[in-house]
This record gives sequence, structure tokens and C-alpha cells, in this order.
Amino acid sequence: MNPTAYAIAVAYGAVSFVAVVGLLVIWRSTHSERPRRTDETDTARLAHGEKAWFAIAVAALGVLLLATLPFIPYGDNAAGAGQQTVAVDGAQFAWTITPREVTAGVPVRFTVTAADVNHGFAVYNDDNVMLFQIQAVPDHSSDIVYTFNEPGRYQVVCLEFCGVKHHEMLTTITVEPPA
Ligand code: CUA
Repeated sequence: MNPTAYAIAVAYGAVSFVAVVGLLVIWRSTHSERPRRTDETDTARLAHGEKAWFAIAVAALGVLLLATLPFIPYGDNAAGAGQQTVAVDGAQFAWTITPREVTAGVPVRFTVTAADVNHGFAVYNDDNVMLFQIQAVPDHSSDIVYTFNEPGRYQVVCLEFCGVKHHEMLTTITVEPPA
């Protein structure tokens, strides 16, 4: 198992564990006998407990957010010297990619825009794993940097519904071995 897959498995495990514990707490709170509220009920204490639970929920969500952020398939925008540049233009219903061949091991800066409506520029490897994706927006150019380590053919898919032939916005990028 590679380190990324292992980290994802651990994150899923942690999320599942928190979910199960949360469900057990809810189940218990709805099935336990509690004295009815009377004039003697200490509402200040109840309010304090409510605040504590709110803080716990916020903290748990914050931890989950930070723990899962590294898995967002978004490239590293710090390209070094000698980067390759590729212009990407999305239009209903095809991609114009110039050039379509890049070299493995060298950072590629994709400059992405759209001619008509929003498109989603996403690149997948042989195993159908998304490597990165970025919105293609009309009148706006967005940069994303990615380094392909393995030569081969990579699938480009439109991930933003852009019209009746959205599903036809497929093409490929070829990654050549280093010279
Ligand atoms: Cu372009 Cu969907």
C-alpha cells in the first residue's frame, strides 16, 4: 500500500470512528431517563454544557478539515526554473491544449481559460485517479502547476456541466520520457 493510500485509509478510519461515536452519543441521549425540568433545574449548568458540546463539535470539524485538506487534488503552484508552459482553452465542446506533449519530471504550468462558459479542466492518470483539476473561467486565466512523474497518456475530462455535449469534452495529454 503506498503512503497516500495508507493516509487516506487512516483518515477514513478516523472519520468512521468519530461518526460511530457520535451516533452512539445521540442514541444514548435519546434513550436515557432524565429528570423533568423543574424550577430547581440549574439552567446555567445546562447552558454551560451546551457551550462545551458546541466547542467540541467545532473542534472536531476543524481537525477533520485540517486532516483532509492535503488530499484535495490541487497542484503545487511553486514551479521552479525550466518549467514547461501549456495553454488550455475550454470551449463548447472541446479543449484546445497547446502543446499537447510535455516531458516527465519537469513542472508544467497550465494556464487555463474558457471561451464561452465555465468548464472544469481535470487530468486523470491510467488508474482513473484525478491528479488535479481547476476551473476554466471566461475572461479569466488561472494557473496550476503539476509535475508528471510517469510518461504516458493522461486523460483530460471536463468536470463542469457546460451544455448538452459536456460529456464529449474528453481529450488526452502525452507525457514523454525525459530526453
Ligand atoms: Cu465543458 Cu463540461
